[in-house]
Amino acid sequence: MAKQKNSKNVLIQPGKPPIFNVATLCVWDCAALAVPIFEAEKPGYAAGVMPGDIVTAIGNSIALNNFEGKAGTLVQANAVGAAQRIILLGMGKRAEFQADQIRWAGALLARHLRKLKISSAVFHPAGLEGDTWPVLAGAFGEGFALGDFKFSAYKTEKNSEAVKHDAAEKTPLTLTICCPESSSAKAVENLLAEKSAITTAANFARTVACHPGNIITPESLTTIARGVAKACKLKFSVIDAPAAEKMGMGGLCAVGAGSDTPPALIIMEYQPRTARTKASRTIAVVGKAVTFDTGGISIKPAADMGNMKYDKCGGMAVLGIMQAVAALKMPHRVIGLIPTAENTLDSRAYRPGDIIHMYNGKTVDITNTDAEGRLILADAIAYACEKFKPQALIEMSTLTGGVIVALGGVFAGLMAGDDQLAADLIAAGSKTGERLWRLPLDKAYRKLLDSPHADMVNSGGREAHPIQGGMFLSEFVAEGVPWAHLDIAGVADPKKDDRWWAGDNASGFGVRLVMEYLQSLLR
Ligand code: BES
Ligand code: MN
Ligand code: ZN
Repeated sequence: MAKQKNSKNVLIQPGKPPIFNVATLCVWDCAALAVPIFEAEKPGYAAGVMPGDIVTAIGNSIALNNFEGKAGTLVQANAVGAAQRIILLGMGKRAEFQADQIRWAGALLARHLRKLKISSAVFHPAGLEGDTWPVLAGAFGEGFALGDFKFSAYKTEKNSEAVKHDAAEKTPLTLTICCPESSSAKAVENLLAEKSAITTAANFARTVACHPGNIITPESLTTIARGVAKACKLKFSVIDAPAAEKMGMGGLCAVGAGSDTPPALIIMEYQPRTARTKASRTIAVVGKAVTFDTGGISIKPAADMGNMKYDKCGGMAVLGIMQAVAALKMPHRVIGLIPTAENTLDSRAYRPGDIIHMYNGKTVDITNTDAEGRLILADAIAYACEKFKPQALIEMSTLTGGVIVALGGVFAGLMAGDDQLAADLIAAGSKTGERLWRLPLDKAYRKLLDSPHADMVNSGGREAHPIQGGMFLSEFVAEGVPWAHLDIAGVADPKKDDRWWAGDNASGFGVRLVMEYLQSLLR
């Protein structure tokens, strides 16, 4: 097989993150003034909150457009004085209002500005003020940054609209949030800074995830991760294929055997420099990075196989999390482990019927080479437990098609060996909108993995397939380590679902969720 070109030094250029400003005096002189509008409410503004002619224009625009204020909709009114445009953002019903609706409104605003080819807006919170306002302002900025994501690395036609548009998008957007109660301005500023770090990391994860399998290989991914580690001052090491072989990581080696680019286990360690508090923990995050999944000898059908470039999304989430943890100087010790391989086929590829010795000494009877994720993860998990003795281990992977059948693109599947960890992750999920639904890991399912020849098979057919994945992984978690497996197959790559921020792109699922979990440990 010919060596793939350009795969060693890939330039990853994510878009520039938005610039956030907080204004304690309202700004009316702007290219675009955005205001929230709740469904089934006539906006009423206290005297002096907004200039009268703007209030009139908002009322007129609602009437003229029959604007209902539904979540995910907007209308634009014309200039009023110095405000060159007024953008009404639908928030949905106040009774059903959640932070995700305001994130969505933020994303819509960012996209609308790009469409108008203008680069700044002022957001006036009329009707949103109150105790939760700083949190809502943070959520709005978060959505704004996620909504501004675009992946156009491979568009080259110099004079095409797309490229001109992209050139304009090299300019970062500026969002000014009015904070009329100056007492909350500092809190809003802090939250926006935090959300900016987290969304920048999530968007980085999305960018790498969108690059295709001829560019992102285990080799180039290792280079990218090394670059991240250097920029973030993380300790970095790689267990390369010869080392993995010597150490007995049979799962990782088998899955990568058929590829021209050898597999690897990437390890990134964040050590807090600031004093650790009582709440500080050692947390391991593990993510599947199969740079392309053909299925191997048990080859996948041709339809939509290209989407298997997204089979690295769990690992990309880990890459993002490590960046965000460093940027926010978290007081936890966080270890990111990314087992990476290309699952493809040639004469060296592993085959159905093979029996493999795993890192923790167990043996696996290969029934399907397309159930590869669990094999590379099993070695990474066993190694993480042994080497780092984490107080929690969170693993993320696009592991099964079955979880898409069960939960679609709305919830990720959660399987956990620890109720507290499961509850904490579910709570972090509802807070961030990256939601989780728990599936049972009951020993009654274990028989699905029974093998006549080895300790277990890697796939026992279609029954309860996501759970089989979780049960399989549980065999590689050391006694006493609280752990959770997130099957993100339905939510990580672009599907027809209601993830408002993703569009045609990878969603970055897991970065915001795990960051929220890590922060929740400190409260
Ligand atoms: N990467 C896939 C899971 C997947 C499928 C992710 C569709 C996103 C969209 C995984 O490696 C896989 O192939 N799983 C198989 C296993 C089965 C053949 C034993 C599955 O779930 O169908
Ligand atoms: Mn597969
Ligand atoms: Zn896979």
